[in-house]
Amino acid sequence: MTEKNEKNPSGKTPNPQVSRRNLLVGAAAGTIGAAPFAAAPAGAAAAEDVVDLTREHAFYGAAEQAGIRTPPQRYAVYMTFDLTSPRAADLQVLLARWSGAIAQLMKGQTIGPVEPMRNSGVGFDTGEALDLGPASLTVTVGLGPRVFTDAYGLAQRKPALLRELMALPSDTLKPELSGGDLSLQACADDPQVAYHAIRDLARIAKDTGTAATRWTVMGFGRASAGKGQSTPRNLLGFKDGTRNIKDDADFEQFVWTKAGPQWERHGTYQVARKIQMHIENWDTDRVSDQNNVLGRHKISGAPLTGSDEFDTPDFGKKQADGTLIIPATAHIRLAAHENNGGIKILRRSYNYTDGINQFGLLDAGLLFIAYMNDPAHFEAIQTRLGASDGLNEYISHIGSAIFFVPPAPQNGSYIGEALFA
Ligand code: HEM
Repeated sequence: MTEKNEKNPSGKTPNPQVSRRNLLVGAAAGTIGAAPFAAAPAGAAAAEDVVDLTREHAFYGAAEQAGIRTPPQRYAVYMTFDLTSPRAADLQVLLARWSGAIAQLMKGQTIGPVEPMRNSGVGFDTGEALDLGPASLTVTVGLGPRVFTDAYGLAQRKPALLRELMALPSDTLKPELSGGDLSLQACADDPQVAYHAIRDLARIAKDTGTAATRWTVMGFGRASAGKGQSTPRNLLGFKDGTRNIKDDADFEQFVWTKAGPQWERHGTYQVARKIQMHIENWDTDRVSDQNNVLGRHKISGAPLTGSDEFDTPDFGKKQADGTLIIPATAHIRLAAHENNGGIKILRRSYNYTDGINQFGLLDAGLLFIAYMNDPAHFEAIQTRLGASDGLNEYISHIGSAIFFVPPAPQNGSYIGEALFA
């Protein structure tokens, strides 16, 4: 699969097969005799858990941009940008340059010589991903509401449902962690490959004088599963992604845009939220309480009314004393499509950490990214969660942004080109 290219002249792929789970299982096994506690079963290293760093995804040609339906990779770097040029032509050039660069990066190639070229600005590569494989990199580009204004001659082209999100209950949003005119979501199985992509794309934006960085989150340990992937855990220790959109019919009904002009079709809306978790409070809570907060069992992931992770929750089931088994304030009860008029969203989230805060507490949470064909679906679910979710005691929504993600470009074209036609 690996080809010789400028970045990898030998054609060799270092560490093509890395099983991180194997390493972790091995480490745990080495200490188990001395462990003073009863460990939960670590689980066998599943075949699908082997990371193939030579794997690559195509940038051109599909109906939708990669990085939405793509099985979630291990790491993400998410960044939003403010437009700094008032000229539509500059935006066009940036989207064209980004598209060309992303196509190269997703093949595991450099975007130019590893040498800054004075006065020409944009065409060089910073080099830190040399010798690394494509690592399943995807870069997904979003366009924010302010792109579609008279200033850029695009007011008439605004996707019908694109607007700022409404204020939602429990919002504690910080302006410096919110908004943006453009978004880049880079996901890869190697964190350095994801960061390299964002770094070089941010440099192109800056060097062309078109857009400046606004806020960013580095994510790890995907907190959602694609079809056929085993369900990972978020930083609360719970499996996250069990009841997510996985089937074609749900993607068609709830994720891709169907209406509007041709250039919008097979696009989607991206909602990003930076959700801080008060994990040290959470860690003092008994697991039985934690189970009631989510409505699921921590270790197995099963709903409180079942025994297997994939059992369908029974929201009507009661204890002998008449109380609901899945409490009224449980996260899954409030979020489930059965209790929200049938609506579903695709969650494609990542854990994040910002280290230690000013009080010496662990500063971490969830980079919640969701895709849907109507942002009102996110608002409807978050309106209920923000008002009553038992989880609210342990989380704060501190960042927020919304973007329209146009369909994938065809060969020879660039993201959003039809918008300027
Ligand atoms: C830090 C914040 C959050 C955490 C820790 C969290 C965690 C979880 C967990 C553990 C599950 C159960 C497993 C699963 O089915 O995936 C779940 C389900 C779900 N969550 Fe969240 N979540 C968070 C925020 C949100 C937000 C902001 C939304 C949307 C507004 C949301 C929507 C959902 C939905 C739709 C489900 C599936 C419910 C079902 O059908 O059973 N979550 N979440």
